[in-house]
Amino acid sequence: MNLLILGANSDVAYAVAKTFAKHKKADIYLASRDMKLLEKKVRDLKTRYEIKAACFYFDAMDFESHLKFYQSLDPKPDGVVYAAGYMPDQEAAQKDFKEAKKIFEINFSGAAAILEIVADDFQKRGHGFIIGISSVAGERGRQSNYIYGASKAAFTAYLSGLRNRLFKKNIQVLTVLPGFINTKMTESMDLPGLLTAQPDEVAEYIYKAFRKNRDVLYTKWYWKWIMAVIKGIPEKIFKRMGL
Ligand SMILES: NC(=O)c1ccc[n+]([C@@H]2O[C@H](COP(=O)([O-])OP(=O)(O)OC[C@H]3O[C@@H](n4cnc5c(N)ncnc54)[C@H](OP(=O)(O)O)[C@@H]3O)[C@@H](O)[C@H]2O)c1
Repeated sequence: MNLLILGANSDVAYAVAKTFAKHKKADIYLASRDMKLLEKKVRDLKTRYEIKAACFYFDAMDFESHLKFYQSLDPKPDGVVYAAGYMPDQEAAQKDFKEAKKIFEINFSGAAAILEIVADDFQKRGHGFIIGISSVAGERGRQSNYIYGASKAAFTAYLSGLRNRLFKKNIQVLTVLPGFINTKMTESMDLPGLLTAQPDEVAEYIYKAFRKNRDVLYTKWYWKWIMAVIKGIPEKIFKRMGL
């Protein structure tokens, strides 16, 4: 199996790469912007798991380059993980639309741009799987994080539609909805220890959900119930809560 990981310098993405290399002996394509870091990871994967690995420059925001990027891959991947993500300070995004636009482009538009190309290829080949890492933040808008949340809501809806489209071709589309994870994205935040997962354990859950042909994965599992409670709060009360 050949796995392509987009936004592969993410801590979760690299944990997913290691998990697929370990359990499945998958060959791994890492694609992201920081090539120096990717090259180090490629060396590490080859040494640890004795698999083939390679890295490629990929910028989610450079939509025009996506087709050429995908056409350059030989062989084509059997599975694709979209993990690129951007979550700056909410206030910065409120004040400067450039920041908000970047959030939408990395978390949603860039994902849709490349995954449409991937979906077409998988549909033609009648083979493949797609894993999109979205977020529970997309399940309900909160004042502290609604611009990032809106981008993830769009990505979650996109993945749902894509699953609907590709189901008949037997192509799995797995939506991953993580709660807090201890990564560089959250390193400046004071996260609640009990509710925070490590990238390696999230990667194991993702791998299991892929193996079981699941559609949606909340990780850790209790986020499904936390979000059910949050979504169940009437708007009249929710708007007063200042979350
Ligand atoms: N951490 C959490 O608590 C949490 C919770 C819920 C959901 N998530 C989601 O899970 C995914 C992984 O998160 P993480 O915490 O592992 O992230 P992370 O460690 O902060 O890494 C994010 C990565 O996204 C890549 N990226 C950013 N802009 C890009 C672009 N224009 N093109 C290509 N790659 C780009 C960066 O790679 P380069 O350095 O190569 O640019 C960066 O390493 C994200 O989608 C995130 O939104 C995270």
